[in-house]
Amino acid sequence: MKSALAKNHANSPKNLPEPSDQAKHLSNLLSKRITKQIKRHGDLKFSKYMEMALYTPELGYYASALPKIGLGGDFITAPEVSPIFSRCLARQAIQVLAKLEEANIIEFGAGQGTMAKDILLELNNLQQPIHRYYIVEISPDLKARQKQTIEEHLAPELIEKVVWLDELPSTPISAVVLANEVLDAMPFERIRIEPDGAMQGYVKFDDDKQAFDWDYQPITEKPLTSFTNHLIKYLGEVSDLGYETEINLNIKPWLKTISASISEGAVLLIDYGYSRHEYYQPARVMGTLRCHYQQRAHSNPFFYPGLQDITAHVDFTAVAEDAYDSGFKVAGFTTQAHFLMATGLLEMSADPNSQVTDQLKVAQQIKTLTLPDEMGENFKVIGLTKNFDESLVGFSIRDLRHQL
Ligand SMILES: C[S@@+](CC[C@H](N)C(=O)[O-])C[C@H]1O[C@@H](n2cnc3c(N)ncnc32)[C@H](O)[C@@H]1O
Repeated sequence: MKSALAKNHANSPKNLPEPSDQAKHLSNLLSKRITKQIKRHGDLKFSKYMEMALYTPELGYYASALPKIGLGGDFITAPEVSPIFSRCLARQAIQVLAKLEEANIIEFGAGQGTMAKDILLELNNLQQPIHRYYIVEISPDLKARQKQTIEEHLAPELIEKVVWLDELPSTPISAVVLANEVLDAMPFERIRIEPDGAMQGYVKFDDDKQAFDWDYQPITEKPLTSFTNHLIKYLGEVSDLGYETEINLNIKPWLKTISASISEGAVLLIDYGYSRHEYYQPARVMGTLRCHYQQRAHSNPFFYPGLQDITAHVDFTAVAEDAYDSGFKVAGFTTQAHFLMATGLLEMSADPNSQVTDQLKVAQQIKTLTLPDEMGENFKVIGLTKNFDESLVGFSIRDLRHQL
């Protein structure tokens, strides 16, 4: 589940609303670009197709100017549900920032800039000084939206703290690193296991249907072969219907770059996902690939490329292993609900003296952020630390590291 709104699981793209002519035109241009790539280099690995569908300059889903996040877009994220989410994260950040040589935050994939804005306001209210709030964002369109949000809502002395980076600092700095729903948007590979072996999902262009489609081919890359060999052993017998799933090979290099750029501090990653054991359950035969289009979730990544988000759940055991290999300590793992409760959610519930309608609004936001069948349990928080040995407050109510 990407959001509280995306509950209308339409299995077939036939149930999805028709895009506007202008949106179809953009998708058509992107499809031609992808087809050209296939004609030139052969079928694309799914991760390459996903990278082009989401991040091709001007045409990819995250790169284009079409609305994405929020009620008028395709999905809603926790910072857009309520400022309470960001205020709680700010409180966790303060515990670390207060002990660092220099108080920096680095936020990856800042969406519309709402979380950056609300965190800076909370730091200011709680009188926690900040040296810089860095944002690393690969979408030029979202970067422009972030600048607008920051400039519209913050005082000049806070605006000047925000700096957009194209790459991480080459000299390591002290920092708290944040990424909400960024891991799920990183290109991943799709695997199909059948009774007689495993295949990797490629994308072909079907000339008869004039559309992209799956083309499963033998696995040739080493990390995928060893992953699937382990998975086959773990799953035991697979039925003739097969077993499809995903693996994200981009998280490891990403964590290595982060580790190389921070001398001390913490990394907090929030996303929907599971421990490995839960992720690759034998019953989860269709994997977790989900596309989000106009507040509906479905599983066809070839529906109008560039007009929909493509995601997969996160294997947090892999994140923990990759983090450990990159020089981090895994400091905690918990559900979003428990993390928010441990960082002050209850103090932030509605003021009993405020208008009843406002109280109801805040109560509804808290439900969305914390109820198990909304964002409370599907979303997890993992905390990683480097040269920072204090226990993180966000994991003090319930720490699920033993499940990783
Ligand atoms: C699902 S949106 C989440 C946005 C925001 N964090 C929120 O919660 O509303 C994913 C964001 O990650 C960005 N993104 C994806 N991969 C990234 C990467 N490797 N580095 C920086 N940003 C990235 C996208 O452009 C987008 O801003």
